[in-house]
Amino acid sequence: MSNNEYEVVVIGGGAMGLATAFHLNKRKVKTLVLEQFTFKNQLGSSAGVSRQFRIPYPDAYMVQMALDSEPYWDELQTYTDKKLLEKVGTLWFGDPTVHSTEGNIAEAEKALQELNVPYESLTCEEIESRFHFKNLPKEYTGLFQKDGASIDFRATIQTLYDLALKSEHVTLEEEAPVTDIKEVENGFQITTPNGVSYAKKIVLTPGPYMNSATNLLGFDVKATYWNMSSAYFKKTDPDIQYPTWFVFQNAEGENGNQFYGFPEVDWDHPGYIRTAPDFVINPLKEPNGRTLIPNEQELAYTSQWVENHMTGMDPKPYYTSTCLVALSSIPNKELIIDFAPAYVPHHKDVVIYATGWAAKFTPFLGKILADLAMYGKTDFDITPFQLGQNYFREYKQLQLTKQYEQ
Ligand code: BEZ
Repeated sequence: MSNNEYEVVVIGGGAMGLATAFHLNKRKVKTLVLEQFTFKNQLGSSAGVSRQFRIPYPDAYMVQMALDSEPYWDELQTYTDKKLLEKVGTLWFGDPTVHSTEGNIAEAEKALQELNVPYESLTCEEIESRFHFKNLPKEYTGLFQKDGASIDFRATIQTLYDLALKSEHVTLEEEAPVTDIKEVENGFQITTPNGVSYAKKIVLTPGPYMNSATNLLGFDVKATYWNMSSAYFKKTDPDIQYPTWFVFQNAEGENGNQFYGFPEVDWDHPGYIRTAPDFVINPLKEPNGRTLIPNEQELAYTSQWVENHMTGMDPKPYYTSTCLVALSSIPNKELIIDFAPAYVPHHKDVVIYATGWAAKFTPFLGKILADLAMYGKTDFDITPFQLGQNYFREYKQLQLTKQYEQ
């Protein structure tokens, strides 16, 4: 193979792209990772420091995926001295009748039972006395699952990046937005402002920017974009420790009223804890509309929640940030893992991960994408995620429809 010829080119060098490269490296596969910005940037869905690892999901196949991810986290942990998962448990609580973007508490209990995952059911009094929340409506219920964790996502990405840098099989190229993809004999020719490379297989992991890559192959992924706000709140009682948590509540007007939070950790603003809204007031149609400044009203609702329902906290938001995520209209907003549609030449040689919240699966998803690229299949059952036929749209057709509508 000459210098610019690769077995696999991964387009998108965030957490998922680097995790794919990690697994391709283990198989000694010559791989190029192209990143349009710089590696470890704050412009996509890997922005920020922490993420939640959790096992509760309303669907058993998602619970299974979380369980299957655990050994891959353990493996990645062996490559760094930094603790990647701070295991403090997952607390889900709130109005038991609410079905949110994360699902529903009773459905999650059913899915956990189906897979024999241990958890505790909680009453409102127990949630308040054990976990420091206050003034909750008496009908609230909850579940606690002990294996949930706060993921040090910055350390996760750094570990994957360092491994890729050291690898003799992986090449990293930043500031390399892909401007053209052409079918050639035995694969693809991929152009960036830095030059041309050739690949037998392509893995697409550009996060919220996926359509700038899929459009070059003649299709797009139907999605909406959430520029999610987040803030850190100061602990006034140093002895209180929260788990990772999520509260299910009905929206009140523009206040989506779903919030989530993290424990205090020494690797992310010690003395403060991160609490954030799991809704956006203004979803975006295009990722270009993103901003690094959180929506003030979303933060005000979060601050109000902290003041009304959390003990030992100053409700003023400090250290704010945003993160951009592409979401499909799948009811629980989970993942799409598929090959390109059949009208793309060599479509089975193009593997795509798009939409949803997948940080908790990072090292496992990397393995799945690497398997699909190398062998066209993987041991894990991806059929629930093979949703391309619902969400991929032929670009030419789409452009014609848009013109017609104007
Ligand atoms: C999740 O665990 O998938 C999640 C938690 C909070 C906000 C968004 C997603």
